[in-house]
Amino acid sequence: MEFYDVILKRRSIRAYKKEMKIPDEILNRILESARLAPSANNLQPWKFIVIKDAEIKKEVAKLCKGRMWIADAGVVIAGVATQPDYRMGSGQEAFRIDIATAFAQMTLTANNESLGCCWIGSFSADECKKLLGIPQQFPLVGFLTVGYPDEIPSPKERKRIEEIVCYDKWSE
Ligand SMILES: Cc1cc2nc3c(=O)[nH]c(=O)nc-3n(C[C@H](O)[C@H](O)[C@H](O)COP(=O)(O)O)c2cc1C
Repeated sequence: MEFYDVILKRRSIRAYKKEMKIPDEILNRILESARLAPSANNLQPWKFIVIKDAEIKKEVAKLCKGRMWIADAGVVIAGVATQPDYRMGSGQEAFRIDIATAFAQMTLTANNESLGCCWIGSFSADECKKLLGIPQQFPLVGFLTVGYPDEIPSPKERKRIEEIVCYDKWSE
């Protein structure tokens, strides 16, 4: 697909064809796009747990406010921060931004392969960490569902460009 078409057509997908598996070659390309993502100071402060097991996906779905469609995705990827203490020169924590960037790259790569994704930010963090065996000191930043879409959602509304962009100096 043309790169900009990927941007235009991407939607958060909340219904998946559960019988359709993601070929390893495609899954590996998606994961590779996370590996190649930029990160502050190139720390690559992340570990991605690729959940393929049907039972574990169901348990995760239950812990994500019971949104059981999550379990229908081909894989559910947990983004875990391995160096949560690092702060950039601006003083901001980098790990959430780094993992978001990797998720965004995976999302666009997946969409380019006719797959759909949804970022999941609503979950019981402690219980998910226990389920997945994530060490206490590593924050679980989010999940990304990846699978073959079983819906074509309409585009969600966006703010107008004039509302979100200004040039040279802040203006309302
Ligand atoms: C950080 C983040 C957290 C999100 N958490 C959830 C979530 O927990 N559950 C969900 O269904 N969608 C979640 N979404 C998806 C957003 O609802 C979605 O991106 C937004 O409504 C715009 O729709 P679109 O992605 O189809 O353009 C999340 C997205 C982001 C970026």
